[in-house]
Amino acid sequence: MTGWGETMHWKSNEAWPQHGGRPDAMLMQFGLDPDREVLDFSANINPLGPPGWLTEQLLSGIGALSHYPDPEYAEAHRAIARQVEVTEAQVRLTNGGVEAVFLAAALHARKGRGALVIEPTFAEYARACRHYGLGIMQLPLGAEDFHLDLEAALTAMHDASVIFVCRPNNPTGTVISQEIIETLLERGRETQTTLVVDEAFMDFVSPDQSLIPLLSRFDNLIVLRSLTKLFAIPGLRLGYLLASTENVARIAALQMPWSVNALAAGLVEPLLADRDFVARTQAWLSDERPRLERGLDSLGFQVVPSHTNFLLFRHADETRGVMGDVLEKLLHQGILVRHTRNFAGLDGKWLRVAVRSPDENDRLLDALARIGAAS
Ligand SMILES: Cc1ncc(COP(=O)(O)O)c(C=O)c1O
Repeated sequence: MTGWGETMHWKSNEAWPQHGGRPDAMLMQFGLDPDREVLDFSANINPLGPPGWLTEQLLSGIGALSHYPDPEYAEAHRAIARQVEVTEAQVRLTNGGVEAVFLAAALHARKGRGALVIEPTFAEYARACRHYGLGIMQLPLGAEDFHLDLEAALTAMHDASVIFVCRPNNPTGTVISQEIIETLLERGRETQTTLVVDEAFMDFVSPDQSLIPLLSRFDNLIVLRSLTKLFAIPGLRLGYLLASTENVARIAALQMPWSVNALAAGLVEPLLADRDFVARTQAWLSDERPRLERGLDSLGFQVVPSHTNFLLFRHADETRGVMGDVLEKLLHQGILVRHTRNFAGLDGKWLRVAVRSPDENDRLLDALARIGAAS
């Protein structure tokens, strides 16, 4: 029986998989069979998806593979523009949200000032900035409730040509208020700073909190979107970015030609049209997230109130340190949760779990209760 502290299995932070959804790598890390079946709570993918019609649509689109896709993706841009109520010239289709992240960083390369990244957050913002030679300033969110220190952000903006904000934030699930965002955008006009807001997880719960309507007022706003989480198609890769016409034209010039394959591009219109799938997703999550949150809470964990489809939690008694033993014991029971070793400031003291189906969430709660993890 090991204690609650670090175990001999813990390796340096760099040795841990940088993203969720890597059961084989995590199993190997703990000396377990990489082919073992696990219930994966580590990737924030919609458990209701992909939509049922998708397989047939993909099969019927196979013919498209013998042609290059339209390099301008006019049909996809039209569908997105219609859906989010911007002009087509304000839209750029991308190979997943992550290509949008890299393009937003590329736009700010060689501007002489750096990037401000509000941490803890999705690791690819910093990686994209490093890739394009942008210096990175990290601004930590408040330790207890993950609030943004607005004064510190406003001051740091003098030295930043771009700020990356994840909203809702991965991994905390928190949302910076629209009022604060508008203050940042107004200051950005003075300091020539662009605000890049990643809304990869926005449509799971609160589409009405999207910042897309602000694009008509602020040229220094870029909104990033992903279709891979909501529609459960991370292997297919689809995302887009929205910005001023001028910024979209600059970004288009930086983008690799045909970066989105024809099959994926052809799915944009039907995916966005499937409002019923999105409504079912939101209905499931509005029941299931509070239930999982209450379950974790009643086991004695501290849970961060979330605006989306995942929850961050830790021992209520934080002096108990890293959650490594909990993660390891869950994995032995065939359940994978997301470590937080590579999230600045979290350092493994928290775990992140995706909200899954009622039965699967019960399995997680039962396993945690069996471990006696929070007692
Ligand atoms: C906040 C955030 N943005 C973007 C992405 C990338 O998503 P995509 O699969 O669309 O590239 C992720 C993936 O984990 C994410 O967490």
